[in-house]
Amino acid sequence: MPTIQLRTALPGPKSKEWMSRRNAAVARGVAHSTPIFAARAEGAVLEDVDGNRFIDFAGGIGCLNVGHRAAGVVAAVREQLDAFLHTCFSVAPYGKYIELAEKLNSLTPGNFPKKTILLNSGAEAIENAVKIARSYTHRPAIICFEDAFHGRTMLTMSLTSKTHPYKAGFAPFATDVYRIPYAYCYRCSYSLQYPGCGVFCAHHLEDTFKRVVASESVAAVVVEPVLGEGGFVAPPPEFLSVVQEICRRHKILLIADEVQTGFGRTGAMFACERYGIIPDLLVSAKSIAGGLPLSAVTGRAEIMDAPGVGGLGGTFGGNPVSCAAALAAIEILTRENLSSRAEKLGERFDARARAWSKRWPLIGDVRGLGAMRAMEFVRSPGGREPAKEETEQVLKYCYEHGLILISAGTYGNVVRVLVPLVVTDEQFDEGLNVMESALASVVESRMETAPHRA
Ligand SMILES: Cc1ncc(COP(=O)(O)O)c(C=O)c1O
Repeated sequence: MPTIQLRTALPGPKSKEWMSRRNAAVARGVAHSTPIFAARAEGAVLEDVDGNRFIDFAGGIGCLNVGHRAAGVVAAVREQLDAFLHTCFSVAPYGKYIELAEKLNSLTPGNFPKKTILLNSGAEAIENAVKIARSYTHRPAIICFEDAFHGRTMLTMSLTSKTHPYKAGFAPFATDVYRIPYAYCYRCSYSLQYPGCGVFCAHHLEDTFKRVVASESVAAVVVEPVLGEGGFVAPPPEFLSVVQEICRRHKILLIADEVQTGFGRTGAMFACERYGIIPDLLVSAKSIAGGLPLSAVTGRAEIMDAPGVGGLGGTFGGNPVSCAAALAAIEILTRENLSSRAEKLGERFDARARAWSKRWPLIGDVRGLGAMRAMEFVRSPGGREPAKEETEQVLKYCYEHGLILISAGTYGNVVRVLVPLVVTDEQFDEGLNVMESALASVVESRMETAPHRA
């Protein structure tokens, strides 16, 4: 029996009613990938308020590697609810925060003493990583990358690359932020080709120190090991190690933003492990707590201890319910070996997507790492003109046929898979089947309406 069950036209009447209340009550700046309102969810399945059942390939934007309502997470949260909800770690500390810090110190790459601070969101953790790096190095500048996404707060928005909708109209931005090209080989900023390029983009960091900002002014390079919102771009194997080597040479800290890549998604607990790099600071969030808000900065102890007492923290950072959920989520990830499940899901997706790309030139690129997989859509195979409209059509078709799928990419022309890693093979294939029909339908209607573009 299929998992997807659609009982009403979409969106259903109750979702429609909620949407009109939402439009009256909530700021329009918060976007929605689908117009359906959630009622309940389990594993990789989401049911809306009208009783329609969807397969969820978005996982709350990569927050549900252990699945919706993982039993261990729910039990740990229940237990914590019966104990206490909040004391503020800065007022009356509690053991779960310490246990989680110890866990992250041991799980993150690097065989040296580490320390951790817990916060609420990915952006807040990136902000803190930058504060810590500046405090340790006594240097102001931060280098980040084209197509990067690090959040929506003032500093993280400044580190983020995409202008619309993230930056336009929100200036002025934070100063001392410098941007260089990422190894986005499909759209190389230098029009070079890998491997002949010798990862020129990574080596070009040296040139940046001559032309843009002096190396002795740079506190840190902030990098996503695989671009998330930027379109699931997995750089060539040596890109990150070259960046790391240059950073070390100039005593610049390397901050890995593993907010989206972390906790098993890429086939290892952290994507840095896949690339054999050891960042000075690693930022994690999203899937850390099985769906509860929590984030962390983990790094070399002497760096983490640079800011003075009271310089770091926040009212809710590392709240006990989220800590309990995170300890349970990490236990599940490890016990159920969800990293290797991610690898298998990625291979399964890749096989299907590569076959589709042979059939439909709309698919310009198939890429990713582990279960962090995506397809980039283009209007013609040679030209690489981004096919944003077609991407939206594919997503709409999927949602209308019971698959929740979201886009990514600076040009809005990438569909990305962030399915909970606990999805069953049957559910995963059912979801992929919907994607396949979506592609067939969009390509067909495109040929009907604009044959000259086909
Ligand atoms: C790589 C990366 N960094 C930071 C963030 C910001 O996280 P948050 O939305 O929790 O502030 C995101 C969110 O998508 C992200 O993908």
